[in-house]
Order: sequence, then structure tokens, then C-alpha cells
Amino acid sequence: MSLEVSDLRIEIGGRPVVDGVSFVVPDGARVGIIGESGSGKSLTALAILGLLPDGVRASGSVRWNGREILGLPDRELARLRGDDIGMVFQEPRTALNPIRTVGRQIGESVRIHERVSRREALVRAVAEAERVALPDPERIVSRYPHQLSGGQRQRVAIAMALACRPRLLIADEPTTALDVTIQAGVLALLRTFVQDAGMSLVFITHDLAVLAQVATHAVVLEKGRVVEQGGVADLLRAPSSPVTQALLRDATATLWHPERSHPSISDAVAVAVDDAPTLAPARGSSLDAAVAGGDDTAPPPGPAEPDATDPERTP
Ligand SMILES: Nc1ncnc2c1ncn2[C@@H]1O[C@H](COP(=O)(O)OP(=O)(O)O)[C@@H](O)[C@H]1O
Ligand SMILES: [Mg+2]
Repeated sequence: MSLEVSDLRIEIGGRPVVDGVSFVVPDGARVGIIGESGSGKSLTALAILGLLPDGVRASGSVRWNGREILGLPDRELARLRGDDIGMVFQEPRTALNPIRTVGRQIGESVRIHERVSRREALVRAVAEAERVALPDPERIVSRYPHQLSGGQRQRVAIAMALACRPRLLIADEPTTALDVTIQAGVLALLRTFVQDAGMSLVFITHDLAVLAQVATHAVVLEKGRVVEQGGVADLLRAPSSPVTQALLRDATATLWHPERSHPSISDAVAVAVDDAPTLAPARGSSLDAAVAGGDDTAPPPGPAEPDATDPERTP
């Protein structure tokens, strides 16, 4: 189940905002798309999903499993999104319906894929909530989105995306709106899921430190064009474009241990991705949390209030 994007071009009012973007996501691969704000990351994701806003035109080719999906009719795209390709966006509020319980919403995702009763779907929703490490799943399924913290809402959105058992997950800055200590937990969750299910992942971020925690390959965008792509370990070790070099400086002072040299990319990637404690910690980076094994699922002490600004408070 591979995704192949070739010469993707996206225009808004005749102005190209994505221009000649090509990359491949082989079966089971985890590819990060990285670039500064406005570089065309989200539009690229939306074009793949067939969700570009009105007035935004895409040309080129997007193949899923060899089949051209760019320009498919809405009905077929909707089926594809329910069956094969899941998505998670930056702000979980937009994915969630404010007037339905989270259990019902996760259950509806289950029902897109499987013929089960509403009641059975709710039972399944509890299991799905448990899988994404939501605290007290049986209780939380009866809550409404506003009663959850930001991190919990994003876990619900991830549960909804994964309940359809997609083969590819596209996540657009899924942790950017979250507190730094919460990020690491959500990233670890995503990576574990994708790995265990043998799914593919397209992960969008502007933060190389975040990308290194989930992706094995990266595509670097600047002003709608690919300026560099390759293994994450290579990019960390020897970024060739000025953009990547700047992203690396932004990410952390010392993301990479210069004294460790890795003979093969897979080794290096294993270090970059799976062995966070060997990365030198930098103040205030999400790597701190990864190194500390930041756990965002335990509700912190203090008065309970459903406040979105607080990371993981259970009301
Ligand atoms: N609906 C839209 N209407 C007009 N311009 C848009 C729209 N969406 C995105 N753009 C422009 O397209 C470019 C790429 O946007 P986007 O893909 O959202 O960037 P990124 O996700 O990398 O921050 C930006 O210059 C942005 O201003
Ligand atoms: Mg974006």
C-alpha cells in the first residue's frame, strides 16, 4: 500500500503555492514533511486527501496503491478516507463534534468500517479509548469534547482516525497545539500505533526535533518546492540545504551526538527515532520530555476544571 506523489502543483488564483512536489511513501514507511510556516505542507496533505478548499486547484499525480486518486469524485474520496487513509489535524476541536459524546464519535468511526450496532460501537469505543491511553476510558466515553483537555482531545481524534484501521495515517502538526510535555506522549503513541499496525505515516511538522521522534524519512519544503529529501538520520547528520540547516539549528542545539558515528542509516535512524535517551537533551525541547519519558495521561493534582489551556486535566 504505497503512496506516490508526483509533480504535485497547487494553485490559488493562478499563483502556484506548491510546485513540482514529488515523494514516495512505501508500505510501512514513516515520512515527515517539514518546512517553515507557509511552505505548502498542509495544502500538500489536503490535496492527497482530496480536501482542498474551493478555489484551490491541484494538478500532477497522487497514486495510492498504483491508482490515481487526484481528482477522484468526492464519493470515492470519502470512501478512501474512511477505509484506507486516516487523518489527524493540528487542532482536535475541528475534528470533533462539540455536541456529541466522544464515545459516540469514536463509535461512529468504528461504524464507518464495520457493520456493528450503535451499542456495540460504544463498547468498541471504550476499547479504542483505552488503546490511545485515555484515562478512565469507560467514564471518558460519556464526556463531551469541551470537558477534555487539549491532549485528551487529540487522543480522541487519533482514536477516531485509527478506529477505521487505515493503512496510511496523515497527521498535520498533530502536537503543535499541545504543551511540550504532552507532545512526547502523543508522538510516542502515534509511532507505536503505526509501527505495530504496520501502517504508513505522513507526518507534517515545522519542528525537526518532533519529526525525528516519529519519522524515518523526511521531505523538506521551502516555498512550495522540495529542497531536500532523504533519511532522517542523514538529514540530521549532514543537512545539505540552508533550510534544513536552519531547521536543525532551531530544533535543538545538539540533537545529534557528534561523537557517535553510525555505519548504516538504519542504525542511525534507530538512534534518531527509537533511542531518545541517547540524544543530548536541550532545554525546553520536546526531546526533554521524551528523555524524561513524559507521561501525559496521569491527571495532575489540583482543582479539576475543564480548561483547554491545561494539558491533561480530567474533569
Ligand atoms: N485557502 C487559502 N487561500 C489562500 N491562500 C492559501 C490558502 N491556504 C493556504 N494558502 C497559502 O498557501 C501557502 C501554503 O499554505 P500551507 O500549505 O497552509 O502552508 P503550511 O502548512 O506549510 O504552513 C501559504 O502561502 C498560504 O498563505
Ligand atoms: Mg500547515
